[in-house]
Amino acid sequence: MPCKVILGAQWGDEGKGKFIDIFAEGADLVVRSQGGNNAGHTVVAGGEQYKLQLIPSGILYPNCVNIIGPGVVVDPRNVLREIDGLTAKGISCDKLFIDARAHCILPWHLALDALSEAEKAEQGTAIGTTKKGIGPTYMDKAERSGIRMHDFVDEVRFESVMREACARKNRVITGVYGAEPIDADAVIAEYRVYADRLRSMVRDTSVMTYEAVQQGKEVLFEGAQGTLLDLDMGTYPYVTSSHPVAGGCCIGSGVGPTAISQVIGIFKSYTTRVGEGPFPTELFDETGDYIRKAGGEFGTVTGRARRTGWFDAVVARYAVRVNGLTDVVINKIDPLRGLPKLKVCVAYRLKNGQTVTELPANFMELEGCEPVYEEFDGFTEDITGCRSWDELPAAVQDYIRQLARIIGCKITMLGVGPARDQVITLA
Ligand code: GDP
Ligand code: IMO
Ligand code: MG
Repeated sequence: MPCKVILGAQWGDEGKGKFIDIFAEGADLVVRSQGGNNAGHTVVAGGEQYKLQLIPSGILYPNCVNIIGPGVVVDPRNVLREIDGLTAKGISCDKLFIDARAHCILPWHLALDALSEAEKAEQGTAIGTTKKGIGPTYMDKAERSGIRMHDFVDEVRFESVMREACARKNRVITGVYGAEPIDADAVIAEYRVYADRLRSMVRDTSVMTYEAVQQGKEVLFEGAQGTLLDLDMGTYPYVTSSHPVAGGCCIGSGVGPTAISQVIGIFKSYTTRVGEGPFPTELFDETGDYIRKAGGEFGTVTGRARRTGWFDAVVARYAVRVNGLTDVVINKIDPLRGLPKLKVCVAYRLKNGQTVTELPANFMELEGCEPVYEEFDGFTEDITGCRSWDELPAAVQDYIRQLARIIGCKITMLGVGPARDQVITLA
C-alpha cells in the first residue's frame, strides 16, 4: 500500500486536521514526524469539534495506530492533558505511541521561548512564536544536550538528567536574561508523575512504521505547520524550528523516501499566516477583515487573529516544487463567498523594479514588494452543501480551473466546510 504524506503548503492552518481525519478512515497508521504542540489541528466529526495539538488526527478511528515520531518534540504535561481530554470524550488513546527518540519540552524551554521573544520584541525582531518551547527544545537537540523520551521515562536516569538540564538552563535564565531560576525539585516532583504515566507508550516507533510499510499497510504522515514555516525552505527567520516539508517526514519518522508515493499539499483558497514575517498578498483592508471573519481565522490553540490575504500562486508553485507534490487540495473555498472579485498573485514586483515568479531565497527581498494579480469573478451562492463538481457555481469552477493552470499541479479535492463530509473529490 503506498504511503501518503499530507502537509501544509502555505503558512500552516490550511485544514490538515480535516483531511488527515478523512484519509485516516481506512488507514492503519497515522504518524506525526515534526513539530509539537505548536500545531492546532481541527477535526469536526459527528457534530463535535476536536482540537488536536500533538496527538495525530487519526485518533478518532479506534483501529488506527497513532504515532508521535522521533522528530517530534513532546511536552509531557500537554500531551497528557490532551489524552485526558480525549478520554473524557470517549476517545481511546490505547493505540497512541511515542518514539523513544523524541525530545521533551520542559519548563525551561517554555521559559526560554518567552524570554527570547520578549528580548527580540524590544529590538523589533520578535518571531511571534506560539511560546510552546519549540525553538529552545530543537536548539538543545541540535546542541546534543536535550532530554529524549527514553531518558525521561527511565526510572534510574530521570532525576539526574532533569537536575543537570535544569541547572544548565538556569545559568542561561539567570545569567543571560536576569530572570528567576526554575525550581528543579518542584519540576522533578511534577514531571515524575508524567514520566510514570507516559512510560508504557514509549517505543521504537520507527520499527512499527517500517513494519507497517513492509506489510503493505496504509500509512499516513501528518504534516504540522506549513511549507513556508520550514526551517530551511521557509521565510527564515520567521519560521518554526522543524521541517514541515515532505522530506521532513522521512527524517522525523525514520522511514526512507522510497516508502512514499503520494504527497498531498493542502492549501486554503486564500492565504493566512500567524506571527511575524513577510506575507506579500496580505490584505489590511475590509476584504482582509471579511475573509478573517468568514473563515473564522483565529488561532486554534492561541486564539490569535490570523493575518489574511489573497491566494499566492508564487508560494503555491514553490510548495509544489520543494515538496514534490503529487496532489493539491484547495480547502476553505466557502469563506470567499460574497467577494465581487477573487485575486491570485502570479508574480512579485520587487522594490528594485524587477518582476520575479520564483520566491527569492532571501525572503527579506519580499519586504515592500508589490504582488502582480490575475483577477477572477467571485460567487454569491452558498456552496457548503455542494458535494460534486457539477453542483458548484460556474465562477467557483472557473476559479479552481485557473488555480490548476497557474499552480501547475493536479487539484484532487476541494473543501467547502469544516465537517468531514464537506469535501468534493475530483476525478
Ligand atoms: P490545520 O492546522 O491545518 O489542521 O488547520 P486548523 O485546524 O488550525 O485551521 C483550520 C480551520 O478551518 C479550523 O477551524 C477548521 O475547522 C476550519 N475548516 C477546515 N476546512 C474548512 C472549510 O472547508 N471551510 C470552512 N469554512 N472551514 C474549514
Ligand atoms: P498548524 O500545524 C500556523 C508559527 C508561529 C510563528 C512561527 C514560529 O496548526 O498548521 P513556533 O512556536 O513554532 O516556534 O513559532 O511558526 N506556527 C504556526 N502557524 N500553524 C501552525 O501549526 C503553526 N505552528 C507554528 O505562529 O509564526
Ligand atoms: Mg492549525
